[in-house]
Amino acid sequence: MNEEQRKEQTQAMEGTSSADKKSGQKKDYSQYFQTTYIPPDLKQAKKRGKEDVSVHYDFEIPEDMQGIGKGKKFLIRTYGCQMNEHDSENMAGILLQMGFESTSLTEEADVILLNTCAIRENAENKVFGEIGNLKPMKRDNPGLIVGVCGCMSQEESVVNRILQKHQHVDLIFGTHNIHRLPELLKNAIFNKEMVVEVWSKEGDIIENMPRARKGHFQGWVNIMYGCDKFCTYCIVPYTRGKERSRRPEDIIEEVRHLARNGYKEITLLGQNVNAYGKDLADMDYGLGDLMDEIRKIDIPRVRFTTSHPRDFDDHLIEVLAKGGNLVEHIHLPVQSGNSEVLKLMARKYTREQYVELAEKIKKAMPHASFTTDIIVGFPNETEEQFEDTLSLMKEMDYDSAYTYIYSPREGTPAAKMEDNVPMDVKKDRLQRLNAVVNDISARKNKAYEGKVVEVLVEGESKKNPDVLMGRTRTNKLVNFRGQKTSIGELINVKITEAKTWSLDGEVTETAEVK
Ligand code: SAH
Ligand code: SF4
Ligand code: F3S
Repeated sequence: MNEEQRKEQTQAMEGTSSADKKSGQKKDYSQYFQTTYIPPDLKQAKKRGKEDVSVHYDFEIPEDMQGIGKGKKFLIRTYGCQMNEHDSENMAGILLQMGFESTSLTEEADVILLNTCAIRENAENKVFGEIGNLKPMKRDNPGLIVGVCGCMSQEESVVNRILQKHQHVDLIFGTHNIHRLPELLKNAIFNKEMVVEVWSKEGDIIENMPRARKGHFQGWVNIMYGCDKFCTYCIVPYTRGKERSRRPEDIIEEVRHLARNGYKEITLLGQNVNAYGKDLADMDYGLGDLMDEIRKIDIPRVRFTTSHPRDFDDHLIEVLAKGGNLVEHIHLPVQSGNSEVLKLMARKYTREQYVELAEKIKKAMPHASFTTDIIVGFPNETEEQFEDTLSLMKEMDYDSAYTYIYSPREGTPAAKMEDNVPMDVKKDRLQRLNAVVNDISARKNKAYEGKVVEVLVEGESKKNPDVLMGRTRTNKLVNFRGQKTSIGELINVKITEAKTWSLDGEVTETAEVK
């Protein structure tokens, strides 16, 4: 959609809602259905809109769509990050209000939504595999609605591939179109043609969408949407649009609501949470200010993800050092230990600047665990440059790291770079990196042996239902035997044995020892 069309659509929608307010009439957006397909456009997405983002508080499901799902079931499969998981909670909330029930069985579902991720090629391959798997199901049950949403649907090549090769898909909608799900689904149910609505340009902020949270003691809270960093390898700024911060009062109200409902842990979400507040034109307010207010809310644990080193400021460090419900875990993606590679990645910091920042944080939060993200095999990465990443791992002594092989993403600057590093070299580097990361993790975990830690009990262990699992404030996974009634509670666990990726322990009455 180009700028003019987008404006037209926005004006049209705003016109409708203000008319509604005056006349008290029922909303009818049906005339704005996008019937002609306008492909999502990565170039267009890069042009950050200058116009202000408006916040809409008047989301509601039109009355005639509230009963559409009666007697029908839905299934949402989520492939992406926490933000994607959280979007799925919103979609589930909308579908429940439309009368649908949820199911985990594919064969029972009347609506299947694939909430996709575009971050690496293998994430996309998984989704295309699943789209293929659904073809025979759709043949046997023509009433089944198959929808594709999430980050992949923001890519033109993906939408075209589905249009050409996967005609059994009924509905494609983008990350800025979630609030339009009722209308889009109604259209998909009553139309024979594929319904496609993907806005290339970032949307506004839609508050008050219904939400079916997966957990009743851990909750995600979006604090901002989008990313303006444009790291050269990354597709996210294109699939999620420009940075838009939610109003602090809306975030704080949501956190208070979760606290009132007994939630024990919240995670503040954004692609680059440290840029929070920069776009709030009427106030000088950042993540540090927000955390300082959330700190005072009666909820035992507050996490946040993901941080970009560039925007991690002193005020935030000062606030985090106050502790309390702000937990001792910092996830600070570095991506590479070599300053030249960092420059090519457009990360906008050098190795030295990163280390300096990390040291400052460690000094202020001496008990904090540190984790990071690493990409190996960036175009033309030399052996020496890779070794700088290995040496940074050792220097930083990370508790753990998410490590990835670089995956070219169409439309990003890095995808245009020539690359002389063969895949087997990249795979070998990943293995060597993982060996170093695991060694450090095992050693750091060893230090927990004999200590008593506070654990939020999350549920049964995946491997053994007789064992419970939970996490420490520092985000270490702990397995132990205990009462199922403790799920959702904070308890003390004494660590008996450290493993590379987890800790074993036993429940104890003794208070926590730091
Ligand atoms: N907003 C987060 C990143 C989200 S993506 C941040 O900036 O930290 C999570 C991780 O995926 C990134 O930190 C990066 O390590 C990895 N990643 C992103 N794009 C990638 C690509 N094209 N190939 C391989 N890994 C990638
Ligand atoms: Fe991607 Fe960089 Fe934005 Fe993270 S900060 S989402 S890696 S562009
Ligand atoms: Fe994937 Fe989109 Fe998240 S690309 S990592 S689902 S923001």
